[in-house]
Amino acid sequence: MAEKRELRQAVGNWVAGETFFDRESELAAFMELLEEGANVLLVAARRTGKTSLMREAALHLGEQMASVFVDLEGSETPEDAIVAIGAATHSHQGLFRRTLEFFRNAVPPELKLDELTLRLRDEVRGDWRAKGDRLLALLARDERPVVIFLDEVPILVNRLVCDPRGELRPEGRAAADGFMSWLRSAAQRHQGKLRFVLSGSIGLGPVLRRVGLSATLNGFTPFVLEPWPDDVAQRCLLALARNYGVDLAGGAAGAMTARLGCCIPHHVQLFFSHVRDDARRRATHVVTPIDADRVYDERLLGNRGHAMLSHYEERLRQVLDPSHRDLAADLLTEAAVTGRLVSPAAIALAAEHVAGDSGAALDEVLGVLEHDGYIAREGASYVFVSKLVRDWWRARFGFRWTPVVERPR
Ligand SMILES: Nc1ncnc2c1ncn2[C@@H]1O[C@H](COP(=O)(O)OP(=O)(O)OP(=O)(O)O)[C@@H](O)[C@H]1O
Ligand SMILES: [Mg+2]
Repeated sequence: MAEKRELRQAVGNWVAGETFFDRESELAAFMELLEEGANVLLVAARRTGKTSLMREAALHLGEQMASVFVDLEGSETPEDAIVAIGAATHSHQGLFRRTLEFFRNAVPPELKLDELTLRLRDEVRGDWRAKGDRLLALLARDERPVVIFLDEVPILVNRLVCDPRGELRPEGRAAADGFMSWLRSAAQRHQGKLRFVLSGSIGLGPVLRRVGLSATLNGFTPFVLEPWPDDVAQRCLLALARNYGVDLAGGAAGAMTARLGCCIPHHVQLFFSHVRDDARRRATHVVTPIDADRVYDERLLGNRGHAMLSHYEERLRQVLDPSHRDLAADLLTEAAVTGRLVSPAAIALAAEHVAGDSGAALDEVLGVLEHDGYIAREGASYVFVSKLVRDWWRARFGFRWTPVVERPR
């Protein structure tokens, strides 16, 4: 595919079409899976472009398949999720017609989205499983196979599992099991007609593992989206630079990807937007590696960077048991300050934080941190995957930290 001549910068929300860069091979492999009829679990570290990949795939599915994109960020119950699925058909003429058949009483076909949502809410009340089954059965009658992209599933499941403070609800496991098992059996029942893609900004695996429900993901094929390789990230930076008349001189693009360490697309875009803004303030269009370094230290690691990156801290709070959160934060601070987390330090921190089986707690916390892309194994220790996240974590939490090995015994 030819390189986009005009790549507009986009920092924040998902991208598709004109703002979507690269990912040709990932997109092809992802769509092939859907064409084969697989139900997919799309996994990646935070801000890697999961939502964007789904949105872009929906644009390309075109003629052979219909698709709806459902964001469950605002859903608190299975009823909400079913309403969201029905409402998501609103922008899709063919599928919307099916949704209209869902209502026992006739409804006008020119229903606005908010009216549709209200009516769906009424209709779904009662036995959500039966209502959900009926809605999906109607969608499955479409002439073409239908892809249902469900984004932020882990946020909904997490709300079912625990209260807003993060404590497990007594009925949480059963509620999560109810929803996930329903989804799984619907996927099986409508095999060949419907396929589901599950994703979210926190890992669904760790959320389900916490309550012993990993098996509900059997039948979903994992699709792992990796960060960009350095050369792709550099091409993206150069395409952005071309479009905005910025000259990344003297290998500045390479210097930028080297500082990031791991080219999470969102971080690449964020870095470019700061570099461009900085050049504008200096009334120049030339950016050297020295400028890029300065922007990294002053801006990306400064207050503005904190605001953008604080979601790493927040999302972690959402997946971890309250009793494990401080341990997770301290493990990350130790790794950020010393450069790597070695096992004696990790064991000592776990013993400090957890009364009882601190080994099991440590395994669980490390599992979550690894799954969600914060740290990775390197030899016998753990290191941050992203230098930016590491530097940011150190800038924010490292000042008052004494590395475990330097502490008086
Ligand atoms: N293919 C791409 N081309 C250009 N920029 C991208 C691409 N994919 C992701 N980005 C950048 O990353 C940002 C986040 O993208 P997106 O919301 O799709 O990621 P995500 O993995 O769904 O994030 P989260 O973990 O928060 O759910 C975008 O605003 C954009 O800056
Ligand atoms: Mg997303």
